[in-house]
Amino acid sequence: MSLDFSKPLFVLAPLAGFTDLPLRSVVKKFGADLTVSEMISSNALVYKNAKTMKMVEKSPLETPYSVQISGSKPDIIREAIEVLNERDGIDIIDLNCGCPVPKVVNNLSGSSLLNDLPKMAKAIETIKKYSNKEYTSVKIRLGFEEKNHIEIAKLVEDCGADFIAVHGRTRSGKFKAPVDYQAIKEIKEALSIPVIANGDIDTPAKSKWVLDYTGADGIMVGRGAIGKPWIFAQMKSGDDRPSSKLIQSVIIEHYDQMINFYGEYGAILFRKHLHTYSKGGYDGASKFRNDINRIVNPQDMRAVIEEFFAQEVIIYE
Ligand SMILES: Cc1cc2nc3c(=O)[nH]c(=O)nc-3n(C[C@H](O)[C@H](O)[C@H](O)COP(=O)(O)O)c2cc1C
Repeated sequence: MSLDFSKPLFVLAPLAGFTDLPLRSVVKKFGADLTVSEMISSNALVYKNAKTMKMVEKSPLETPYSVQISGSKPDIIREAIEVLNERDGIDIIDLNCGCPVPKVVNNLSGSSLLNDLPKMAKAIETIKKYSNKEYTSVKIRLGFEEKNHIEIAKLVEDCGADFIAVHGRTRSGKFKAPVDYQAIKEIKEALSIPVIANGDIDTPAKSKWVLDYTGADGIMVGRGAIGKPWIFAQMKSGDDRPSSKLIQSVIIEHYDQMINFYGEYGAILFRKHLHTYSKGGYDGASKFRNDINRIVNPQDMRAVIEEFFAQEVIIYE
């Protein structure tokens, strides 16, 4: 499956704990061009435990499909790639060079690679050398403490990556510092491989502005898609907000996919999504959130969801 960079690519960002198979399959129905697995540690892949292998699974709608790995030790990355090589239907292996979480950084993975560029180079080259997938990509931030984005991005390109996603903050900027779109533009101007812009892109107007301003080949949306999986359709077409009826059917479909994928426990896992879905101006939202925090039975949960989201939404952004 070749990626088409002749028009902007709309990508769902990997969000650990959110962008699992059920959410990705719903987002695909609204036109996301590319979906990425949650971050999977290369160490965990080597052990092939059931939970890890479930995270690799994809929905039939996900073509192309990218699996994101974390790690830095070349021999472990190589073994992880060999595990992924046995699985069909994966088009891209993406290396996480952005995760700021101390547990990941202390393990010398994620954004810690931005602090050790020779190690980062070795990790990318290892993927490129051993992967049997069509593409290798890398997701970076602008630097660890200070911005050295051009140096990082050029290294990614020189190591043979086919495209790059850039979250426009440093590691120190975590998830709140202002996103530096000028830096993303500079990366786009400096590289020949496609560049995907990421960070705080959460409305159709913002997506258009970022594409125009940075000249990027695509945009990646993370938090903006949580509670609004239809945002990709709006970004691509500039359409109005979806009808209350459509929202209700999307939420129920997402819920059913969760139960299919996780079994009964999917009802409990779905609570965090219901908290976001119910934010759009619904009457009785806080009572609803209290209620669903207590329900464990999947059928009861479905009935409560169906009833609550049957109401017409007055304000929905
Ligand atoms: C809860 C959460 C989980 C995340 N998990 C990952 C991950 O597994 N891999 C990754 O590369 N980035 C991860 N990120 C970063 C996002 O992919 C993205 O770069 C960042 O949130 C900025 O984009 P946004 O403003 O559109 O959310 C995560 C972010 C959040 C908030």
